[in-house]
Amino acid sequence: MDINHITNKEDKLKLAKKIAEKVQDGQVIGFGSGSTSYLAAIEIGKRVKEKKINIIAIPTSEEISKVCEEYKIPIGNLTTNELDWSFDGADEVDPKGNMIKGMGAAMFKEKLNILSSPINYILVDDSKFVQTLGEKHPVPIEVFPSAMAYVSERLTKLGATSTIFRGMTENNNTILDTEFEKIYDKLEEDIKVIPGVIESGLFIGYNVEVIRS
Ligand code: A5P
Repeated sequence: MDINHITNKEDKLKLAKKIAEKVQDGQVIGFGSGSTSYLAAIEIGKRVKEKKINIIAIPTSEEISKVCEEYKIPIGNLTTNELDWSFDGADEVDPKGNMIKGMGAAMFKEKLNILSSPINYILVDDSKFVQTLGEKHPVPIEVFPSAMAYVSERLTKLGATSTIFRGMTENNNTILDTEFEKIYDKLEEDIKVIPGVIESGLFIGYNVEVIRS
């Protein structure tokens, strides 16, 4: 992550400092991905070092794992550890707290953390608020590579107006950035049942607390 070229860095840093203050000794914390989470991971790293706090992190990307390693924060996993809380960023948040995530391609692990944690803080600067999901970003969809053509066809039937191959995820799957005519409440579920879809960046009706800068 090029820390000097993070957009809205001042706001994201404020959010990072706010979340670092919540860290208590003995907690297991889910770390999201993206630039806001990156800054938050650094602030948490500084705090645990300074205050000699012991925590376990469950990171959602290699980049965030590296920050944890740098600050000597032990890394756990969802099989043997139980999350106390998690934090993450978002690309878009609507007035109900529904989100598009995954412009960093890490939404599969991010969704697992959010679903496994009793408390989830979503750190968002003002640029992330929208009236309707899809206003500014496509919906990223992680797809098993050889299922790409089939999945694209099925997405078109769900109202996708474009599906663009963006690249590979850390799980060695492909990412299709998909624009839809309309993002309706059940769309996340309708995407998920397509064979070959690993996960989508739609987070509709999740248990999250939005923290703004
Ligand atoms: C990563 O896969 C995403 O879900 C991020 O949380 C999201 O893209 C927000 O990123 P920024 O904090 O960089 O805006």
